Amino acid sequence: MFKKVLGTKDLLPEEVRLWQSIENTGREIFALYNYREIRTPLIEEAALYNRSLGGSTEIVGKQMFLIERGEDKYALRPEGTASVVRAYLENGLDKSAGFAKLFYIGPMFRAERPQKGRLRQFHHIGCEALGSSDAGLDVEIISLADRLLSGWGVSGQEILLNSLGCRQDKQKLADSLKNSLRDKREELCPECRQRLDGNVLRILDCKNEECRRITSGMNGQNSHLCPDCAGHFNAVLSGLDAIGVKYTVSASLVRGLDYYTRTVFEISHPGLGAQSAIGAGGRYDNLIAELGGPDKGAAGFAFGLERVMLVSQAQPPAAGGLQVFVVPLGAEARAESVRILAELRGSGISAETDYEGKSIKGALRSANSLGAALVMIIGENELRGGTVLMKNMSDGTQEPVSRDKILQAVKERLNRNV
Ligand code: HAM
Repeated sequence: MFKKVLGTKDLLPEEVRLWQSIENTGREIFALYNYREIRTPLIEEAALYNRSLGGSTEIVGKQMFLIERGEDKYALRPEGTASVVRAYLENGLDKSAGFAKLFYIGPMFRAERPQKGRLRQFHHIGCEALGSSDAGLDVEIISLADRLLSGWGVSGQEILLNSLGCRQDKQKLADSLKNSLRDKREELCPECRQRLDGNVLRILDCKNEECRRITSGMNGQNSHLCPDCAGHFNAVLSGLDAIGVKYTVSASLVRGLDYYTRTVFEISHPGLGAQSAIGAGGRYDNLIAELGGPDKGAAGFAFGLERVMLVSQAQPPAAGGLQVFVVPLGAEARAESVRILAELRGSGISAETDYEGKSIKGALRSANSLGAALVMIIGENELRGGTVLMKNMSDGTQEPVSRDKILQAVKERLNRNV
């Protein structure tokens, strides 16, 4: 028998209910903040990610699912930000809308080693606000992220916050880090030794104890920020304070993608175990220009939906039970039941019948387990008399109903039952 691909998940109907309620709550909250949904393709040119996330990042270096067709190289999207910026520019939203607030929900793909909360196909629910460098926007997206979590019944999370500064500030921090680590290369873990020649800032949030010990005190405590970036960061912090969003500043938080500038944040949850990040985001003021657009700032974030599901206390709304279960007895009654089912469904009434040749007892059991409000039995007597036997499952009463009054009788009884 075939098995699903490593790191992927089947969502069975019960789980889909919680999933959809998380999506619906997300959509409602995004609407409160005036974000509109965008859907981009699952595949993009691989070069888009090289350009935006950075060639030396783990995602681009090791985790992309690549598809080659002739000369062309595509990647299954590992994240949403790059596609959204591409779509914003390709569809001229930078000109028509200028400032655009977009949200997305959909699958992402990364060839990571699967473990609890870490999949190869997972889902993001995220947003991007494109076309502004205003610190108020950073405050808005962080508070929106916090609001989403409370809407999903998640509590106990921690928001870690930092500012990387502009391109020059990041370079300054990277240079000083390289300098300080020059004589310590051999003491670093193998990955950080590689990072020293590429994504050097990533060394700051390496989880290895020894690397942490070596780099403690090397994060600069934001002293690398130019006056503009320091002012921006202060404005973000005081904006969050003003609306009571709790956060912890962590000067070691750098994030794994090259496009970030200034504000970065990560939200962790203790219920998630080793993969504790439930969501993350930040500002990326150079990306729009780097992908060929105007020199405009942007910011956004994404939650991992599977991780939200792991810690959500939300109860999905109870599934609405079936309205009518039709039980035909014999071939002629079955032909009649096909017509009745079509009429019921055509009038917006949910209806089902037995397709497994069950006895009347078995069919009633099916009706019961589907939560049917009414059962319609069609036997020989009913066929002869031009009626059906309508049983009300809530009180067990039953009575014949004339064939041409079925719809009316069903509607009356359903209204009475609710
Ligand atoms: P990211 O931190 O790579 O950021 O992913 C965001 C979230 O997706 C993570 O915090 C985590 O919850 C979830 N996630 C990541 N990888 C996996 C995985 N393999 N399995 C399950 N969940 C996972 C981004 O992707 C940025 N695009 C966020 C952003 C938007 N920044 C600005 N705008």
